[in-house]
Amino acid sequence: MNKIHAAITAVNGYVPDYIMTNKEMETLVDTSDEWITSRTGIRERRILKGEGLGTSDMAVHAVNGLLKKRGIDAMEIDLIIFCTTTPDFTFPATANVLADKIGARNAWGYDLQAACSGFIFGLSTGAQFIESGKHKKVLVVGGDKMSSIINYKDRTTCIIFGDGCGCALLEPNEEGFGIQDSILRSDGSGKEFLGMKAGGSVLPATHETIDANLHAVHQEGPTVFKFAVTNMADVAAEIMERNNLTANDVAWLVPHQANKRIIDATASRMGVDSDKVMINIERYGNTTNGTIPLCLWEWESKMKKGDNIIIAAFGGGFTWGSIYLKWAYNS
Ligand code: UT7
Repeated sequence: MNKIHAAITAVNGYVPDYIMTNKEMETLVDTSDEWITSRTGIRERRILKGEGLGTSDMAVHAVNGLLKKRGIDAMEIDLIIFCTTTPDFTFPATANVLADKIGARNAWGYDLQAACSGFIFGLSTGAQFIESGKHKKVLVVGGDKMSSIINYKDRTTCIIFGDGCGCALLEPNEEGFGIQDSILRSDGSGKEFLGMKAGGSVLPATHETIDANLHAVHQEGPTVFKFAVTNMADVAAEIMERNNLTANDVAWLVPHQANKRIIDATASRMGVDSDKVMINIERYGNTTNGTIPLCLWEWESKMKKGDNIIIAAFGGGFTWGSIYLKWAYNS
């Protein structure tokens, strides 16, 4: 029997309707469209509006669309891995909430927290269940309602983030397509530079933590930028080297969308031309766990069976990594 690879067999995405432009940002904080565009590449981002709506509500749209595309029923899903930094609740897991909302009554699931690297950590862990033969259909969801943890008075963070959600279905493939390799890394000393200080067991919510805005993203931008540029580029180059891939062999780079300058640096380190790089940061900003599946969704029609794809991410805490996969279908 041939080796079983975990292949992505369908992708989908969802972004909320409300568009927050850089012009609107100018009304909230001391910034300018020119500054945001030139420093980050972001022109607008989506915001999930509506009382009582959370990350799972975006996922419902994305996943129902995926199931329809693939022509399968939610009851066929074995496992849901929900990669998110903004779960609906501390508990129960958003994977559980989603399973209930979409009627995936045969699935078990869990949330995976690795900040902006979550989706690649999720793909990689989901792949283990496919490769081992344990499961046939693993749904990996990546999404965040970042607007729920942003301080819209902090111009250094609020301009970057947006809301959105994407998903991918993993299924067994015996023809050699699917995930070939992954390199996943983390360094907890990075927690000082990008994270959320309160709301966990160390500093539960109090009036004081709320008054001090400790339930919002804290980021020391320039430090994170330096780590992100180096680590994301290095890990993408490393996975190419160890799989004997040259820039010509790579059909697409799918980078986490945190800052256009970080994306450009990664592509340049890999020697990959800009027309092979998926970039939608100008429209969605940084949707954290959503960036990579949203790119796959938007570029789905352009990817061809057998394309070599490199995915790379860097995130808070710190986490980073890269995946090399062979695209498994023509859409
Ligand atoms: O997705 C997870 C990983 N996250 C990342 O990868 C993000 C990495 N970091 C970044 O993308 C960038 O550091 C930022 C976009 C957050 C900031 O860009 P920067 O080029 O590093 O700017 P900076 O923080 O060094 O600030 C430069 C100047 C400062 O003014 P002075 O001190 O030079 O007078 C800031 O106060 O720009 C000022 N500034 C702003 N000005 C207008 C900072 N934010 C803004 C703003 N509008 N929104």
